[in-house]
Amino acid sequence: MRIGVLTGGGDCPGLNAVIRAIVRKGVEHFGHEFVGYRDGWRGPLEGDGAPLGVPEVRGILPRGGTILGASRTNPFKEDDGAARIAENLSAAGVDSLIAIGGEDTLGAAARLHDEHGIPIVGVPKTIDNDLSATDYTFGFDTAVNIAMEAIDRLHTTAGSHHRVLIAEVMGRHAGWIAFHAGLAGGANVILIPEQPFDIERVCELVGRRYDAHFAPIVVVSEGAQPVGGLPEVQDEKLDAFGHVRLGGIAHWLEGEIESRTGKEARATVLGHVQRGGTPTAFDRVLATRFGLHAIDAVDAKRWGTMTALRGTEIQLVELTEATAELKTVPESLYQEAEVFFG
Ligand code: F6P
Repeated sequence: MRIGVLTGGGDCPGLNAVIRAIVRKGVEHFGHEFVGYRDGWRGPLEGDGAPLGVPEVRGILPRGGTILGASRTNPFKEDDGAARIAENLSAAGVDSLIAIGGEDTLGAAARLHDEHGIPIVGVPKTIDNDLSATDYTFGFDTAVNIAMEAIDRLHTTAGSHHRVLIAEVMGRHAGWIAFHAGLAGGANVILIPEQPFDIERVCELVGRRYDAHFAPIVVVSEGAQPVGGLPEVQDEKLDAFGHVRLGGIAHWLEGEIESRTGKEARATVLGHVQRGGTPTAFDRVLATRFGLHAIDAVDAKRWGTMTALRGTEIQLVELTEATAELKTVPESLYQEAEVFFG
């Protein structure tokens, strides 16, 4: 078989480990050939692909980013997108696709399979860990470790200068990174999109921390909001899937906390630092196992499915199931962390 591989959406530590596992097992075990498509769905849309063999994947296991490039191109926002993809695959002699991506990339994969009959297997990826069908996505563990290390470092500056330090982490609709990094890093307040916060209560917790003669650390997801919402949208730029570009809640908190408590507050926005660089061992292993099971799924012609981690097992689930619902932080879990607030 000749199989196309693409990586869509934001980059994520572990993407190269998936590509390597697919190609190594696909070539050496099954005797398949591969085409690496550039920049997510843009590649098959424009017929921009190149042969991807074992030499191309040598040495990439520990590398961050993706050797194939990534983009947020949405094939359903392009004229005749699905038909163009089908034509380009057929012209290149490509029989099937492995699409590695998050909610948006896999949502497009599900439609290309269900509505246009394109043979596709998906691999879930997102540092946000918000895909419901899998217990974990690779990239999340790396992002949490980067954020935790940043929080550890912020503690010493907060303590030395008696400041409130606010760390903004990624997490558009789900607060998994903030929750895990905040708990692991001993944050005094964790604010997530699932739980709109009361700014008065946040200031009370800040005050309580000072009463105990320590300086507070607040960890906030980029998608967190105060009760009643923010006075204005921070940035109205939309991507091809219609998402607002987030960022800036930490600066809003900085102003509110300073004016309400009289304490100096400073914001640190971690941004793309969380997505960059080398994956942790956990992410390399999960990404490698997803790649191995994805190529098995292609060989077995299990089109329209996606690899998923369930407990310690890798299973195949329907792509539509995987993209139907976001996995958010349950209230009961959030309440466990509240013991450490203030
Ligand atoms: O989905 C992963 C993610 O990193 C989100 O946490 C974040 O909101 C978004 O991507 C940022 O995307 P971009 O790099 O395209 O601005």
